[in-house]
Parts: sequence; structure tokens; C-alpha cells
Amino acid sequence: MAGPQCCAVMVTGANRGIGLELVKHFLKEPNPPKVVFGTCRDPKGPKGQELRNMASKHSNLIILPLEATDPSSVDAAAKKAEAHLGGRGLNLLINNAGVMPPCSMDSITAKDLLDVYNTNVVGPMLVTKAFLPLLKKAAHACQQKGLSCGKAAIINMSTILGSIEKTPETYFFMPVVSYRCSKAALNMLTKCQSMCYKEEGILCTAIHPGWVKTDLGGHQADITVEESVKGIMKVLCNLSEKQHGVLVTWEGNVLPW
Ligand SMILES: NC(=O)c1ccc[n+]([C@@H]2O[C@H](COP(=O)([O-])OP(=O)(O)OC[C@H]3O[C@@H](n4cnc5c(N)ncnc54)[C@H](OP(=O)(O)O)[C@@H]3O)[C@@H](O)[C@H]2O)c1
Repeated sequence: MAGPQCCAVMVTGANRGIGLELVKHFLKEPNPPKVVFGTCRDPKGPKGQELRNMASKHSNLIILPLEATDPSSVDAAAKKAEAHLGGRGLNLLINNAGVMPPCSMDSITAKDLLDVYNTNVVGPMLVTKAFLPLLKKAAHACQQKGLSCGKAAIINMSTILGSIEKTPETYFFMPVVSYRCSKAALNMLTKCQSMCYKEEGILCTAIHPGWVKTDLGGHQADITVEESVKGIMKVLCNLSEKQHGVLVTWEGNVLPW
């Protein structure tokens, strides 16, 4: 099944895991985006090798250096993207970059919590603010009514572990306290973004990608990265006002906050 029809897409943390797989899926679409920005902290280093290999085969893949916690890096990436888009907007921003260090209630420190917040909450906030003018440009240029990923959308990669209501079912299985707190905050950021940007025509949704076999998810996870991203692509195609300001799973089901 074809993914969302977007002209310009950006995925943060695109050098491995779910981010890399999302880029692969966009590039192999029957009607791929004109531009796919894949961001990476160190595009020239060994961690950027897979992205570089892909960019050598796909001229529509543009690798942007981006450290999500560093405002100057984020602003520089937005300027490069704007120059590359040459007056066009950005349809789809996927705030995927994230970290999940081990962290129990006994071991947690202020630094643990602040470090994880910096990447998982401050990062998506900074990236969204910097790319907002490009998202607005895409939304305003689109004649379609309503909200969709093809028009303009902010997708925040969240998790069921950030759902406060689901915590009694998931806590003892995976405590990761700092991660849970950060993703609950990311969920609130998504909700606030949805309140602010609806009038601009920008869809805002948080997605739980499943428990996925990546460096972050570990090898015991439920599903492969291909399975997760296949599901996410299908979900992205079908997002509309109904899922605006909502947390949905890679299978399209709504999760409680
Ligand atoms: N895997 C799962 O089971 C699962 C479940 C629920 C939600 N998620 C969410 O899905 C997203 C992707 O997870 P994943 O499993 O693909 O993780 P992953 O394989 O560990 O990849 C994480 C990506 O984020 C990047 N990143 C981390 N900190 C960054 C920063 N400060 N600035 C820019 N990039 C940064 C990493 O870049 P480097 O290579 O430079 O470190 C890497 O590209 C995360 O937000 C995660 O919370 C994953």
C-alpha cells in the first residue's frame, strides 16, 4: 500500500532504527516525496554510513546534520532545508529522535531526568518551532480541506510507556522512569501543538510505534522495525482531524493519555 502523498518530508534521528526505516519506506514509495530530509547527529561519521549509502542512490534524500538538543544546530538545519525547498513548504515533520536510558525509581537523579527531557521533549519542541514556518507554508499552499499528512503534519514519536492511564499495565514490565516522564510530557506537547496549529491547517499526532527490535527497543521486542514502519506508513495515510491531538498506535488504535 502506498504511503502518504507528501512532497517534502523530514525525519529526525534517521541514521538507525525506526527513523532509518521510515526514510527507506518513503524512498521506495511508488510516488516518493520530492525531498526526504533525513537528519543525523554526525552525518560524516560511521553512524551516518547507511544514510550516505542511500543518498548516493536517491537524489531526493538530503542528509541534514541535526543535534535535537542544540538550538543552533536545529536552526542551521531549518535554514538548509528552507534553501533546499526553494520557496516550497515542508509537509511532514516526524520528530523521531529519542533516548531511553535505564532508570529505576531508586536510581533516578535530577541529571537523568533533565538529560532525557532535553532529547525527548526539548528536542521536538525546538525542531517544531524552527520548522514551523515551512510547515505553515505547506499548509497554506494546499487547497485540500481538513488535516492530513499530505498537507502539513507534525508527528511526535511517543510510546505507550508515556500513557499515564496505561501505567499500571506496563510499569513493572519496563520501569524506565525518566523515559516515561519525558514521553508523558511529549504527549502534552503534542496536545498543546494540536490546540495551537489546528487553525493553521497542521495536523498534530503522537504515535506509539509498538515494541520494536532496535537498539532502543532491544532484541526481545515484539516486532521488527519493518513491521512497525509498514504499520506507521499506513497510519500516516489515514490520519485526519479524528486523530488530531491524539496518541495512536502503529496499528491505528487510539491510546488513552
Ligand atoms: N524501539 C521501540 O520499541 C520504541 C517503542 C516506543 C517508542 N519508541 C520511540 O521511537 C523513536 C525511535 O526509537 P528507535 O527504537 O528507533 O531508537 P534508536 O534505534 O535508539 O535510534 C534513536 C535515534 O535517535 C537519535 N538521537 C538520539 N538522541 C538524539 C539527539 N539528541 N539529537 C538527534 N538525534 C538523536 C539517534 O542518533 P545517534 O545514532 O546519533 O545516537 C538515533 O538516530 C524514539 O523516540 C523512541 O522513544 C521506540
